[in-house]
Amino acid sequence: MPPLGRREFLSRAALAGSLPLLAGAAAPAARPAAGALLDRSRPPGVVAADESAWQNVQAAWSVDRSIINLENGGVQPSPDRVHAAFAELARHAHRAPPITLNREQLPQLEDVRQRLAAAFGCDAEELALTRNTTEGAETVLLGCELRPGDRVLTTTQDYWRFLNTLKQRVARDGIEIDTLKLPAPDASVATVVDTFAAALTSRTRLVLLSQLINLTGRILPVSPLVELCHRRNIPVLVDGAHGFAHIPARRDALACDYYATSLHKWLGAPHGTGFLYVRRDRIGSLWPHFPAPAELRENIRKFESIGTFSAAPFLAIRPALDLYREIGADHKWARLRWLRERWLEPLAQHPGVTVHVDRRESSSGALATVMLPGLPAQPLAKWLWERHRIVVRPVDHPEFSGIRVTPNLYTTATEIDALSTALRTALTHGLS
Ligand SMILES: Cc1ncc(COP(=O)(O)O)c(C=O)c1O
Repeated sequence: MPPLGRREFLSRAALAGSLPLLAGAAAPAARPAAGALLDRSRPPGVVAADESAWQNVQAAWSVDRSIINLENGGVQPSPDRVHAAFAELARHAHRAPPITLNREQLPQLEDVRQRLAAAFGCDAEELALTRNTTEGAETVLLGCELRPGDRVLTTTQDYWRFLNTLKQRVARDGIEIDTLKLPAPDASVATVVDTFAAALTSRTRLVLLSQLINLTGRILPVSPLVELCHRRNIPVLVDGAHGFAHIPARRDALACDYYATSLHKWLGAPHGTGFLYVRRDRIGSLWPHFPAPAELRENIRKFESIGTFSAAPFLAIRPALDLYREIGADHKWARLRWLRERWLEPLAQHPGVTVHVDRRESSSGALATVMLPGLPAQPLAKWLWERHRIVVRPVDHPEFSGIRVTPNLYTTATEIDALSTALRTALTHGLS
């Protein structure tokens, strides 16, 4: 089949249902109220498609616009106001650290804890500040009591560090791991739950699963999976690296026992910030990564006993939360999915293109991995960078490969269209 020209590409996209989205991009701008970042008087789906409504949001980041950065799945840039707050806080801490850091800044971390807990929907006494998802998840994986022969269930697509951690516990503590293979991306929730159910054993003591699989962008049905495990009294650790401030699901919708996330991803907080949620009745039995005083046994702060650290990144979580609230969780979610569909919908119509996510709303968000026929991921990602200054992430996994594309709120429709044009060129002419 011949490659599609731009006009045909767009008309097929329209036939496939994306016309309102694409047409919406040209809709007249509704200006936000003076000083507001975004006009939220209209429904999220409508605002998402109105490119001009996002100008103030896009301008909130001073990113290098000579680069089209569609690799926001690793670490994200902070909006200017977050970075400015962080820089000033760091400067202030150094004026007289015993006073400015110890007496002034560190006590304010309690306020940050409160605000994050309110945003996640848990009690502040269940939320520990961490430097990233890794620190939070490792705390659980290394800190939960497991005896020789106990089993931990996870998937072949969970984060590589955590699979390594479990392997270390195999070698060190004699536990066993079960890694299940997920069914196809468009499998029903019932099929996913059945797959997990079939892999649970009478010795399973913990389940680790990703809220969103970083390799593909697939969102797992966390709540029914947690329900399944809880029926068997098995606690669940959710790797929420890509969940918080991206997928609008709070604690009650997840109902898991442990949740680890990074705030330098979707919240846009300074690099080196995250949190670990531990359900209150599980705090006492979880060992902290760094031993804390015995009287903190039931206290969530025992997971923060890491020695001297900078308060500045953590205090600058506050402006990041403010900005997230101004934009609104549902408006952010709708916009990220709109940006995703703008490139993916037409591309998915192209013969031979394999999309590694189910495009329905409950199943995927901003991230999506695709394999283009005859275009291996590594050379394609290299070509996109060297020829077009477009950054995407090549993914090579034993079960699939492809390029992962991850826009952010600062991404413009024009930048997404540059990707679409480059991919059409690659499909038509190859990488030469
Ligand atoms: C699914 C998943 N889990 C955990 C992590 C680790 O995040 P961090 O490096 O912020 O700890 C990542 C990082 O990209 C990830 O994609």
